[in-house]
Amino acid sequence: MISRPRSSFFVLGLLATATACAGPSVAQPGSPAAQSGGSLAESGGAESAVGESGSALAESVWAGIYSQQQAERGAAHYLETCSSCHSEDLRGNSNAPSLIGSSFMFLWGDRSLGDLFTSIQTLMPTNAPNSLPPQSYLDILAFIMESNGFPPGTSELVADPAFLGQIMITARSGL
Ligand code: HEC
Repeated sequence: MISRPRSSFFVLGLLATATACAGPSVAQPGSPAAQSGGSLAESGGAESAVGESGSALAESVWAGIYSQQQAERGAAHYLETCSSCHSEDLRGNSNAPSLIGSSFMFLWGDRSLGDLFTSIQTLMPTNAPNSLPPQSYLDILAFIMESNGFPPGTSELVADPAFLGQIMITARSGL
């Protein structure tokens, strides 16, 4: 599950090495390194691509996509169902990954809320996957959003895969 970001860093490392070591006569415009560089740079365009699809007010986690009350309900579910492994402050431990901060963004940055929802629902808790009502998983998702500093809004998250699938988890509001 962490192979994607890792490989990105790996490619960056390769690029840096290539840039540092290769003299002008060695560098080739069509080399694999040059091509990966292009696709890395373009990956920052995900937000505009979502915007162009035309549907949504909510296209990122910064758009106020859950409500405060929902996050409060989620906090209660989290304490009951998740905190034994991921800890009360969501920071995880040597067994279970952190669900907040830079570790969370490392795993989930530039992925959709739909991906995160599906992972939680189908894998968690590890000893009883898919054992909660969908609404409880959504509420927990809202609590995780709140804990990561994404702002609440007026309406609740709903279990609509198309909607969740287009909301991107991004590190900043894309200004
Ligand atoms: C019995 C311990 C346990 C409980 C309870 C538990 N988790 Fe986990 N969780 C883990 C472990 C271990 C991993 C890492 C291995 C894995 O992904 O299966 C993990 C991974 C995750 C991930 C990352 C999954 C991925 O695909 O990268 C998320 C998100 C998560 N848990 C959320 C939750 C939520 C939300 C709850 C409560 C509904 C919960 N977990 C309950 C142990 C637990």
